[in-house]
Amino acid sequence: MKQLRLKNITLVQHPLIDHSLTVLRDTHCSTADFRQHSGIVSQILILEATKNLHVVNKTIQTPLAKMIGKRLKNDVVVVPVLRSGLAMLMELQDFLPSTRVGFIGLHRDEKTAQAHQYYEKLPKIFASHKVFLIDPMLATGGSLIASMNMLREKGAKNITIVCIVSAPEGISEINKAYPDVHIYTAAIDKHLNTQKFIVPGLGDFGDRYFGTI
Ligand code: URA
Repeated sequence: MKQLRLKNITLVQHPLIDHSLTVLRDTHCSTADFRQHSGIVSQILILEATKNLHVVNKTIQTPLAKMIGKRLKNDVVVVPVLRSGLAMLMELQDFLPSTRVGFIGLHRDEKTAQAHQYYEKLPKIFASHKVFLIDPMLATGGSLIASMNMLREKGAKNITIVCIVSAPEGISEINKAYPDVHIYTAAIDKHLNTQKFIVPGLGDFGDRYFGTI
C-alpha cells in the first residue's frame, strides 16, 4: 500500500491511552468498559488539544492575599458530530462546562460510506473562536470535511479536530481539503477496508458505545 505523507497531526501518546485503546479494540469489551475507556482516552486527548487555549489575567482575593490568577477566555465552541461525537462531548464538558456546543448530524450510508446531513444546530461563531470538532473515528474524512464546510460557512476560522482512532486515508483527505486544520488523535491505524471501516480499528464506535449492536 502507498505510504501517505501526513501533516498537521499530533499522535497523543500515553501509557493510559495504550491500555484503554487495547480494552476498546477487544471485541469482547462490554458496553460499560467501552464507555469508561473511551472516556479516559477522550480526556487525555482533550487535555492535549486544549494546551494552547487563551487565558486572561484575573485579580482575585485568596483567604490570605490578593493575587493575579488566570482564567480561560470564553472563546471556545465545541461541535460533536452526531452521534458518536456525543461520547467525547461529555468528557470535554467536564473540563469546560460553560462552553458553547453546536451539533452536526451526519448519517453514514453503509453502502457508499457517503455522509448525509440530517441535523445542524450551531451557535454564532466568530473568527476569534476556537472550534473543536470532535468525532471518535476519522475514517474517510468525509463527515469531518462536510462538517468543516458548514463551520467555515458559519464563520469559523480556527478549527481543531479531535479523534480517537484515525485512518491515514482520512487524515490525508483532510490535509488536502483543509491544510490549516490540526488533528489530535490517539491512534493512526493501518488502512480502511472495502466497507470503509478502520483496520484494525474498533468496529462501529457508536454501536459499541451506545450498546446498539
Ligand atoms: N466509523 C466507525 O464507527 N468505525 C469505523 O471504523 C469507521 C467509521
